[in-house]
Amino acid sequence: MTYFSPADSIILPAAETLRRRRREIVGELALRGLVTDEEPLCGVIDLDTVDELIDALKAAYPKSLPAMHTVAAKAIALRPVLAHYAQAGLGCEVASPGELELALAAGFAPDRIIFDSPAKTRREIEMALRLGVSFNVDNFEELARVDELIADIKGPTPHIGVRINPQTGAGTIDAMSTATETSKFGIGLRDHREDLIEAFAARPWLDQLHVHSGSQGLELEHTARGVRLILDLAEAIAQRVGKDQVKRIDVGGGLSVNFESDEVTPTFQDHRSALESVVPELFSGRFTLVTEFGRALTAKAGTLVTRVEYAKSTGGRPIAITHAGVQVATRTVFMPEYWPLRIEVFDAAGVPRIGEAFLQDIAGPACFSGDMLAVGRSLPMITSSDLIALPETGGYYFSSHFSYNALARPVVYAVFTDEAGQRRWSIARRAQTMEQIVAEAGEPDFAPLPT
Ligand SMILES: Cc1ncc(COP(=O)(O)O)c(C=O)c1O
Repeated sequence: MTYFSPADSIILPAAETLRRRRREIVGELALRGLVTDEEPLCGVIDLDTVDELIDALKAAYPKSLPAMHTVAAKAIALRPVLAHYAQAGLGCEVASPGELELALAAGFAPDRIIFDSPAKTRREIEMALRLGVSFNVDNFEELARVDELIADIKGPTPHIGVRINPQTGAGTIDAMSTATETSKFGIGLRDHREDLIEAFAARPWLDQLHVHSGSQGLELEHTARGVRLILDLAEAIAQRVGKDQVKRIDVGGGLSVNFESDEVTPTFQDHRSALESVVPELFSGRFTLVTEFGRALTAKAGTLVTRVEYAKSTGGRPIAITHAGVQVATRTVFMPEYWPLRIEVFDAAGVPRIGEAFLQDIAGPACFSGDMLAVGRSLPMITSSDLIALPETGGYYFSSHFSYNALARPVVYAVFTDEAGQRRWSIARRAQTMEQIVAEAGEPDFAPLPT
């Protein structure tokens, strides 16, 4: 059966379009004088690209298929940007009480939120039950807590699922792989298949199965195999209870992003095709599909831009000292082999530098030697006051600030093209002020505990 017609197909942003938009954005940043002594580092999120990625996700699945697509808040924890995803019809996956509050504040209806923390407190479970926020239970102890708390709920309960670890192994990045034999997430399917069937049979309110095998570095077939296993589990539960109890299949996120060029690959359609070939029943209409993409919905839409403060040479190696380091590119700095970023050089007026390439190091501002964005990168010669753009930083980079050295969270701008074709600029998040840094560093003096 063909579920998908080319007419539904949305053309993803082309590589040339992404490159052109980024160049224009850096040029406009320079023209508007937005890179300053006070704010030598900023992020820019391009809502045009965000919208195209959302459209591509929606179009990848047949319109007739019951589905709830959510954006993973951890990838883009910026309130107005999350509100933009809500207005575009997406739900929100949250993994902590802070992200839950943020999703509510951004305007997601409670029944469009999925709460996935592995460490939910009683209070958080009560809150989810009371508000009607769906959640995925991580382990059998949590399930026992839900048993106690659900008894007090009058009226309908939200969709409640169980996070399954399919134990299908790691992808290329261990720290991002959640389907390993001993992963901290979910209930191991091989260890507990019978217990899980029993648990569902004893609890008619459990109606969802969840799997998220990992983020970045996972083959599509690997992801699809995890979904295959939870669909088989749903089938086994249906056989045990004599009816379809599992109504929603939550396939998590984990579509990898290409950090090497402006090509958007793999695509949401590739993800759907992998699922369709390994788990065709998912498209039968029997289940509601839930997705939780983060990086694939955000990375290509964002760029970090920093001024080069100084350009020097040590031991014969040119080194550019910039304002973008471990505070914004934490994973890149600590695990450069897994999270390399592209680097683009512009002059102070925002014009791309071209010309002979030299091996150079690009350093961040933090006080340790390892704070490097790139080592030995071949680039046009960088001079002080140049601008460096870091493509593909729309996912996680703006929202996972690392406060070492009390380096400020940078301003993040949002841009979109209006009906007249003009690019409009606004502030999505202001830079952290020095007053905020001092206030967040603790009490002015040791505060007495209430007695
Ligand atoms: C449960 C869950 N869902 C979704 C995501 C989003 O993953 P990605 O950004 O790779 O799509 C994550 C990421 O850690 C996750 O843990």
